[in-house]
Amino acid sequence: MPPSRPAGPSRPLGAIRYDNAGRVVLVTGGAQGIGLAICRAFVASGATVVCADILAESSDVPAEVKMYRTDTGNPVDCQAAVQWTIDQCGGLDVLVNNAAIQPPASYVPVDQLESELAERMVAINFMGYTNMAKHALRYMKQQGSGVVVNIASGQGDRTTRGVPIYGPLKAANILQAMQWAVEYARQGIRVVSVSPGAIETPLVRASLAAQGGAAALANRHPLGRIGQPEEIAAAVLWLSSPAASFVTGTDLVVDGGLSAFGAFAEPYTPE
Ligand SMILES: NC(=O)c1ccc[n+]([C@@H]2O[C@H](COP(=O)([O-])OP(=O)(O)OC[C@H]3O[C@@H](n4cnc5c(N)ncnc54)[C@H](O)[C@@H]3O)[C@@H](O)[C@H]2O)c1
Repeated sequence: MPPSRPAGPSRPLGAIRYDNAGRVVLVTGGAQGIGLAICRAFVASGATVVCADILAESSDVPAEVKMYRTDTGNPVDCQAAVQWTIDQCGGLDVLVNNAAIQPPASYVPVDQLESELAERMVAINFMGYTNMAKHALRYMKQQGSGVVVNIASGQGDRTTRGVPIYGPLKAANILQAMQWAVEYARQGIRVVSVSPGAIETPLVRASLAAQGGAAALANRHPLGRIGQPEEIAAAVLWLSSPAASFVTGTDLVVDGGLSAFGAFAEPYTPE
């Protein structure tokens, strides 16, 4: 009998060391969940990190991270966050578009979707990414270098019930990255997206009931567990590094085999 292994990554993450000293990184929605893990990983690798979050402060965020209160659903806030980062930190090398919402009330068929909620999701999950990128790319273009990473989702490639607005907006995050990649490639800028499977964050905890509970969600992943935010941060660090210098316009799926399994959705049972 092989020895039993603990659930979770089999080796400690961070075995790969990145040197981000001198680089400025702007992460939206970095006060908790995946964004928080991304902020921590960049800080640990020496980067200057700004967290643009609707929360003005968070005790979880490392003291080195500069917090800038931002509602990415507001175009004026997006421009201000990018400008503040450049002014305070002397540049902008990496933008991570991560802030998105998926309120439990959005887990309904489209005919029951409240228009106001849908519009708020479009404003944050789609236009927020666009407006942050618009201002960041203007600066990166002059600088002649930069990386933009859009945090998308497996639900942007395949679908399941109850994501009539979240899923299509996540598909848009993948296409945004491809489009910007093509547009800015000759200016030294790379743009990619990352599509996580289910990751243990407040967003997922809030949606567990809609996903059939924790055990059912874990079982849908061939690795038999959901992912940890640090496992998405690890992908973002690699994609932002010179080790990924020939990677642009692509989507990296980090989902414990969920999409390969072909069982992304629960078995279809007609009502
Ligand atoms: N957790 C998962 O399983 C999962 C799976 C696939 C994709 N994703 C994507 O990963 C990203 C992060 O998800 P998460 O699970 O960490 O979410 P989360 O809800 O745990 O954290 C989101 C963060 O964004 C901030 N935020 C919310 N609205 C904002 C706004 N208008 N402006 C600025 N900040 C705002 C919140 O304060 C919070 O800090 C999202 O793009 C999400 O769609 C998550």
